[in-house]
Amino acid sequence: MKTKLKLNKKKFIPVSIPHVSNKDIGIVNKVLKKGWISSDGPEVKLFENEFSKKIKRKYSIAVSNGTAALEVAIKALNIKKNDEVIIPNFTIISNALAVVKQNAKPVLVDCDIDTWNIKIEDIEKKINKRTKAIIITHIYSFANDMDKILKICKKNKIFLIEDAAEVIGLKYKNKMCGSFGDISTFSFYANKQLTTGEGGMISTNNKKLYDSCKTLRNLCFGKKQRFNHDDIGWNYRITNIQAALGLGQLERLNSVVKRKMEIGNYYFQRLSKNKNIYITPPKISYSKNIYWVVGIVIKNKKVLASKIIKKLNNFGIGARPFFWPMHEQDIFKKMKIFPKKKYPNSSYLGRYGFYIPSFLKISNSEMNYIISKINKLL
Ligand SMILES: Cc1ncc(COP(=O)(O)O)c(C=O)c1O
Repeated sequence: MKTKLKLNKKKFIPVSIPHVSNKDIGIVNKVLKKGWISSDGPEVKLFENEFSKKIKRKYSIAVSNGTAALEVAIKALNIKKNDEVIIPNFTIISNALAVVKQNAKPVLVDCDIDTWNIKIEDIEKKINKRTKAIIITHIYSFANDMDKILKICKKNKIFLIEDAAEVIGLKYKNKMCGSFGDISTFSFYANKQLTTGEGGMISTNNKKLYDSCKTLRNLCFGKKQRFNHDDIGWNYRITNIQAALGLGQLERLNSVVKRKMEIGNYYFQRLSKNKNIYITPPKISYSKNIYWVVGIVIKNKKVLASKIIKKLNNFGIGARPFFWPMHEQDIFKKMKIFPKKKYPNSSYLGRYGFYIPSFLKISNSEMNYIISKINKLL
């Protein structure tokens, strides 16, 4: 493919650029001027309420990031030592950390090689008497098949923690992702569909869990005597400044999701012809592709993703590797928390997957340039 875009040495196309509008800046300025800067400001509650409405949940609790949201969720469900929690092997380390930090045991399930989400067929093989919960994470592209997941949770009486950090605004069969879990979690890091710089949210329909998450977020201050704390909590509060930004961002979530899908489609139409790589399609039977990141997997072990990433960087193109599977994490190997088993799909994706620039304002000529270089290298 020919491309008109000539990048000079200084120009670099990054993987992600946060989208902050003038309106967002206006809202943030307003709270700054009023002096409402800590977590006590009114925008925090407002943001939580608006978020609940959007996701269609009764309660939301804003926290300082998505990792914190998961930690609070696990503790609120009273998961502790000797309990087991099933997690995807191909995911962010935050899923495993939340379990490990409560001294419980994460149990890994490999991923599906086409959707990159947890391999549903393998879940029940890992359930036993000690299994208390499962973390279902929607990875990069598609929603998990939630009907099947809910059925497994119900049958085996285990809690569902839904990690919707990467798919804010995506639906599964007309219901928002993040509306299925006993507790659901989100991240508002700078590269997410909705950002507050750093930030996160926990959502639930259960009042008891809501109360529990709220107190855990805020150091478990005593009810009768404020500074006599009744449990081990965290300061995982969000600031009012972040919440104000979140309110602005939430207003245009639909258009962000639409644009991300447009970008993913553009790449898919042009890259899916290349038989040396795999790119996820715009939709599968139960989910559209939100293309949080536009991921590419190199087929047939042709060349490692790390090599291609370096070469793309030399062409002035940002690219990042996929998640590194949990069973291959140095820290977990040292801790010997996982049995020596093979998870071939996660291992493959970790070595041969990478993602390319897909920020909202990317131009067609920038995408054409990236496509031409990928086709040249692969
Ligand atoms: C699926 C998933 N869960 C949790 C997190 C953690 O969120 P945070 O970076 O806000 O701690 C991320 C981060 O990107 C993520 O992708």
